[in-house]
Amino acid sequence: MALREIRKDGDPVLHKECKPVKEMTPRIRQLIEDMFDTMYEGGGCGLAAPQVGILKQIYVMDVDDGNQYVVINPEIILQEGSQTGDEGCLSVPGLVGTVTRAKSVKVRALDENMEPYELSGEDLLARCILHEYDHLHGHLYTELVEGGLRQAGEEPEAETEEEID
Ligand code: NI
Repeated sequence: MALREIRKDGDPVLHKECKPVKEMTPRIRQLIEDMFDTMYEGGGCGLAAPQVGILKQIYVMDVDDGNQYVVINPEIILQEGSQTGDEGCLSVPGLVGTVTRAKSVKVRALDENMEPYELSGEDLLARCILHEYDHLHGHLYTELVEGGLRQAGEEPEAETEEEID
């Protein structure tokens, strides 16, 4: 098991565009393995390569549905519906925020053997697919948060508490 350092919000590497993967190499296989280890250690359900400082279009996910997803060079081919819920990120520790995203998505990607496949996801898996996809293009969920970031575990402020001038 090898853990990598998770880059935190404020690190410029999190705001860069990642390059597509051209071929699988032993180094990239090791990276993917380390990304799973690092994601599980951090208690996250997804981790993207730029979060460990590697500007490649790779992310891994495990949303407790019995699968370990490896997503390379993804393209979003469908987004439908909408869901609003809390989201967090291992690069923004201790905080959560409310984000609205598509309820179902479909991506076309390559797996760890560089074989093309399509992945459809709903609810948490859809949210995770889109959150990690954004990482590959230099975006964090904090850009999409409605109503500000909160400490994890804190309830959203009631609407009646909104400031009125
Ligand atoms: Ni994240």
